[in-house]
Amino acid sequence: MRLVVLISGEGRNLQALIDACAEGRIGGRIARVISSRAEAPGLARAVAAGIPAHCLPHERYPDRERFDQDLAAAIDEARPGAVLLAGFMRILTPAFVEHFQGRLLNIHPSLLPKYPGLHTHRRVLEAGDQEHGATVHFVTSDLDGGPLIVRGAIPVRPDDTERRLAERVMVEVEQKIYPRAAAWFAAGRLALVAGRACLDGRALEAPVTLTGAGGT
Ligand code: GRF
Repeated sequence: MRLVVLISGEGRNLQALIDACAEGRIGGRIARVISSRAEAPGLARAVAAGIPAHCLPHERYPDRERFDQDLAAAIDEARPGAVLLAGFMRILTPAFVEHFQGRLLNIHPSLLPKYPGLHTHRRVLEAGDQEHGATVHFVTSDLDGGPLIVRGAIPVRPDDTERRLAERVMVEVEQKIYPRAAAWFAAGRLALVAGRACLDGRALEAPVTLTGAGGT
């Protein structure tokens, strides 16, 4: 399956997807990477992997609609079976989401439905939560609210800072669960059916929880 990955920053999730494709853990290849920021370090990761990398600087656009139209066109050119948002820091228009519905996935650094939006690590620490993690979900027009696919959790440590916690969520959870969800999708095991995430033909009552490297 051809994949398009959208980024705005470091691209560590992108790197995990690149590695998983290279190692055959995802039955697909990344056909194009698109960044909303010219200075996104993730672009260099795409280039290093020989993946065509494009930049669509959002500040050059007068409005969200025009940006999303060009973005959709740049994605469609690559004819992807799936579009993976990986730290793509843009709110998408309903028309864009509708166009890619069912093949648009996102990773969010919280145990959704807790903490949609920004600054999730800080909010978890402020709330005194015992655990934290990340979630992959289908994208709908509901911000960080689409059907959940897979989650991974880690304990919050007493000495965690926002930075330390973010790092552990990235390395121990995000970089593991996103390649896994992408692999399911590329293999035709995962789909959005009647507004619900289905894995192996069954609607998920709750997101799959991944612990360690094994599992589904
Ligand atoms: C990740 O924490 C992702 O979940 C969030 O933004 C961050 C992007 O990091 N949406 P990277 O660009 O993948 O390194």
